Amino acid sequence: MTEARKFQAIKGVRDILPPESALWNVVETTARETFATYGFAEIGLPVLEDSQLFVRSIGLNTEVVSKEMFTFEDHDLALLDFMRNELIAQLRPFPSIGVPEQIVAGLNRFLVVAKGEIEHGNLARTPMNATVLARLEGDLNFFAGASYSTKADELRSVAGEAQESLEALQLGIVVSLRPEATASVVRAYIEHGMHTQPGDVKLYYMGPMFRRERPQKGRYRQFYQIGAEVLGQSDHPGIDADVIEMVLVFIERCGLIGHTLYINSIGCRECRPKYVELLRAELTKVKDQLGPDSQRRIETNPLRVLDSKVESEQAVIENLPRIGDHLCEACREHFKMLQAMLFMRQIAYEVNWRLVRGLDYYMRTTFEITAPGLGSQNAVCGGGRYDGLVELLGGPPTKGIGFALGTDRLILALQEAGKGAVAQPLDAYIAWMGANAYPMAVRIAHALRGAGCSVELPHEEMKFKKSLGLAARLNARFAIILGDNEVAAGAATVKRMSDSTQSTVAEKELGAYLRP
Ligand code: HAM
Repeated sequence: MTEARKFQAIKGVRDILPPESALWNVVETTARETFATYGFAEIGLPVLEDSQLFVRSIGLNTEVVSKEMFTFEDHDLALLDFMRNELIAQLRPFPSIGVPEQIVAGLNRFLVVAKGEIEHGNLARTPMNATVLARLEGDLNFFAGASYSTKADELRSVAGEAQESLEALQLGIVVSLRPEATASVVRAYIEHGMHTQPGDVKLYYMGPMFRRERPQKGRYRQFYQIGAEVLGQSDHPGIDADVIEMVLVFIERCGLIGHTLYINSIGCRECRPKYVELLRAELTKVKDQLGPDSQRRIETNPLRVLDSKVESEQAVIENLPRIGDHLCEACREHFKMLQAMLFMRQIAYEVNWRLVRGLDYYMRTTFEITAPGLGSQNAVCGGGRYDGLVELLGGPPTKGIGFALGTDRLILALQEAGKGAVAQPLDAYIAWMGANAYPMAVRIAHALRGAGCSVELPHEEMKFKKSLGLAARLNARFAIILGDNEVAAGAATVKRMSDSTQSTVAEKELGAYLRP
């Protein structure tokens, strides 16, 4: 017999239990209601996408893409995959001693199966796969012709090449669990030709995202976002302000208080590259005052240095050139107008010149909302403008702006502010005794539930004392008591739990009696 094993949720993922799940429902319903008043419609998106979608849009040099995606190759070539892994394992310590008969046989079999899968259309006939198979054919000939006198170095080098070729074989499409959803919205916008729809396309979504981050309070590997995107022809700053207004209205309706909105402009394709070069040059001058992460980012993504929370780097960063002083005329005007638009809506904000955001697709407007009580992971919402992303992903010229709110963090912030509890109402608990009372209890439960009441019906017979005790512990508004007398009379004894008053109520009057 196999030993029993206890399972636990894996690192960085968690269950959302009642009563907290009720708060999640309230938040999600509030989002749906609020976004609808701004003309947004919900889009359902897949959790899995082609990895390249994220590489192209978020950028290869971002933390999210380079370190945090859950990625795997999706195919149904299990045998070929198994043979490939076996061969790689055999080639790795190669050559030990002797003639590589095992490798010759293994490679031979692998090539027969691979060619068969290509014939049957199961393995893609890509140029890469054709090259890989041709190379492996050459390696096979080499190994087949090898003898005890073949030099070990030569064997080792061909074995290394064969290993690389096997690894490069594309068995299927490489997919990732989505780390965010803007890229998916843009993919869907292009795929379904939504640019032909009248007016701006305004979509919202909610659901799980996945990033392999170091878990801590407010940071999970499976976390949830509620986000919205506007795609269309205009980049008027009024759209930016409306999107910001909408998310603020939403979180305020949820009951969040004490939050702060930060805004910035990170320029466009005209002005940002020049600023980035200037920043890189200045950072190079102070390189030895920076830690290893920031030093690396001078080359890969200098803007991200501005995001650094490392204490010793703060003074250095404060003296760096600021993007606001290097925006082109059009970007400066856009940012000025955005601030006027926020002022018009009486939205308080702070300009934070270091707010660059961690994803490559942004241009011009960026914004973030922080909430109290969350410790270091205090950003509940992040967003910005991404004009040009639709074109980058093969669509028509389109402007875009949006945000995503971290639902886990919003819930945490609400709980910290004492707004966490949502009581699950229980209208009636049915306390019954006797074989004849059970059918009446079943009938009453069905009728009351049909009338919209929440009803708890125990199926094991219990003494009244015990079942009434349970009714109290479950916070039921009423206990419906059914014994032989009630069955005979066709009426229940109804106990109001708040003051213990009891009344006799005819079975068909129960729905009306229980109504609050
Ligand atoms: P983001 O800043 O990467 O932006 O994420 C948005 C929000 O998701 C964050 O402010 C945070 O509240 C939450 N979040 C991110 N990572 C985690 C995590 N590991 N655990 C818990 N919460 C997390 C985006 O994702 C963009 N797609 C936003 C956007 C939409 N920009 C334009 N449109």
